Amino acid sequence: KRQIIIDCDPGLDDAVALLTLFAASDTLETVGITTVAGNVPAKLTLRNARIIRELAGIGKEVPVCGGAEIPMLRDAVTAEDFHGSTGLGNIAFPKPQVRASRQHAVNFLVKTLRATKGIPATLVVTGPMTNVALAYLMAPDIVSGLKEIVIMGGADSEGGNITPHAEFNVFADPHAAAVVFGMDVPMRLLNLDVTHQIRTSDEEVERVRALGSVQAVAAADLLAASNRLEEEAKGRHAPLHDPSTVLAILRPDLFEGRKAKVSVVTETGARFGKTVPEYREDGNVLWYDKADAGAVFSEMLGQLGRYTA
Ligand code: BDR
Ligand code: CA
Repeated sequence: KRQIIIDCDPGLDDAVALLTLFAASDTLETVGITTVAGNVPAKLTLRNARIIRELAGIGKEVPVCGGAEIPMLRDAVTAEDFHGSTGLGNIAFPKPQVRASRQHAVNFLVKTLRATKGIPATLVVTGPMTNVALAYLMAPDIVSGLKEIVIMGGADSEGGNITPHAEFNVFADPHAAAVVFGMDVPMRLLNLDVTHQIRTSDEEVERVRALGSVQAVAAADLLAASNRLEEEAKGRHAPLHDPSTVLAILRPDLFEGRKAKVSVVTETGARFGKTVPEYREDGNVLWYDKADAGAVFSEMLGQLGRYTA
């Protein structure tokens, strides 16, 4: 089985990514969840990860570790407009009972990635990259414990979603993103050029709901809330940003891209937080720009259909 660590800021779409990941436990073994400030402040992203872990019927065997509370250099930004004040679209979930780990996310990343014993782990990142950058700065040798990093972040031809140029996860901590893209590790980037091609229609959301399990109904509620908030803010259905990371691991054949070296604009100004891909064969980043949206949704539906509760 592939060993997965997911670093996230739940977040409606992060929550759907977690549910999809846990559903795929026959091939993807989640060894830990780390959380970071992003869509909502760090206290809430930590709580939301605990809520989703419990909803999936998972306990302490998959630790949830809280991480960075503020970005490296810039002021904190949040995205309540797209995720509601709780981060989970103000949907009522049972109060989580299983505690968070006492270990800090950055310590967990360093310790776990140093102990992979020849079977490198896959790191999935669906939030600002503060924890990952801090772990690398603390222990650059963690690169040898990494098979690849699959990231939701960045934008090029599509333009940004938080400013005309910048995508939220990179904009929320551009300095951390610059550190992470510079790591000598293969990466795949689910950026807006590709995630904007994958949106769930109301009919598709209802197909998820019709699966009937508690987890599938929750996923449908999360997707519906995401669509509602995105419609209010932008007049269209929400892209399937974060779940695309997990789906690209499960079905790389459904995505296409080009190799690139990626840099980040860290100077203040209109382009602050913009990702700049330089397309070249020796680039460490696979910059996705195309997806078979219908098949990506079907894969997610199939995975969510595995829940039986
Ligand atoms: C990213 O920003 C967040 O609001 C979402 O959870 C996703 O990770 C999309 O730009
Ligand atoms: Ca996210």
